Amino acid sequence: MARKRVALKDPARFSDPANLTWERYVAMQARERERYLAERTTIPEDALNYKNVSPRYLKNAVDQFANNYYSELSATHYVATAAANAPFDELKTSALFQLADEQRHLEMDREVFERAGIPERDWLAAWESPGTTCRFFRHLLELEDSIEILVKGNFVAEGAAGPGTFTVLADGAEARGDVLSAVNHRARIRDETRHISYGRALVKALIEDDPGNLDTIQQWQDESLRLFAEVARGGERQEWWEGFLASYYKIALPLGLRVTGF
Ligand SMILES: [Fe+2]
Ligand SMILES: [Fe+2]
Repeated sequence: MARKRVALKDPARFSDPANLTWERYVAMQARERERYLAERTTIPEDALNYKNVSPRYLKNAVDQFANNYYSELSATHYVATAAANAPFDELKTSALFQLADEQRHLEMDREVFERAGIPERDWLAAWESPGTTCRFFRHLLELEDSIEILVKGNFVAEGAAGPGTFTVLADGAEARGDVLSAVNHRARIRDETRHISYGRALVKALIEDDPGNLDTIQQWQDESLRLFAEVARGGERQEWWEGFLASYYKIALPLGLRVTGF
């Protein structure tokens, strides 16, 4: 079946709320980096090397580390595709800044795996096991259309995953002695919020451009959330899943989208 496409006939309808230029982006990220390093230096050496967490925590956390690491790794690929195929310049610019953000997130998550002492040969197997975000991101990696990628990746997935669920993940990690994960999750929230807000601006522009686009966007939402649903399977991550859907519907329902049936 050919994939449905939507186009923004009038690209002037889209503008990135962050209104970034290269100058502003670099200055902002320099400030973020200072803030991150300042927080990171407060982590005691033992905690940084996962000496204070229980073996049980680490065993259970491998799936979560994989969900973090591989979703960021996937983002460096699918956002690059979105930038390369962007139908207009403003969207390309937003995607290129996002690409740089996702690379930094990827490096933070690699450090977690390494400091926690999880051998690299186990990382992918953890992600490919049932109950992870693997199915959703593998789907995104197959797409070529910039608008479909950014609607699914930024508006749906990031709109759902942040900022609410990053707070849940950060608090949960911290309570178990995993301070590095907590600091990392809190550090990426502002970037992810910016990715969501340009995803949302894109969806809003598409619907204003042609209300008929709403049907396709609804279909993309349904496909995405159904691929994610397995992460909540078995109820182990019930709190996470409820926060995930609540964050998403908070931005989606006001734009005219409906709740997905499972
Ligand atoms: Fe990210
Ligand atoms: Fe992101």
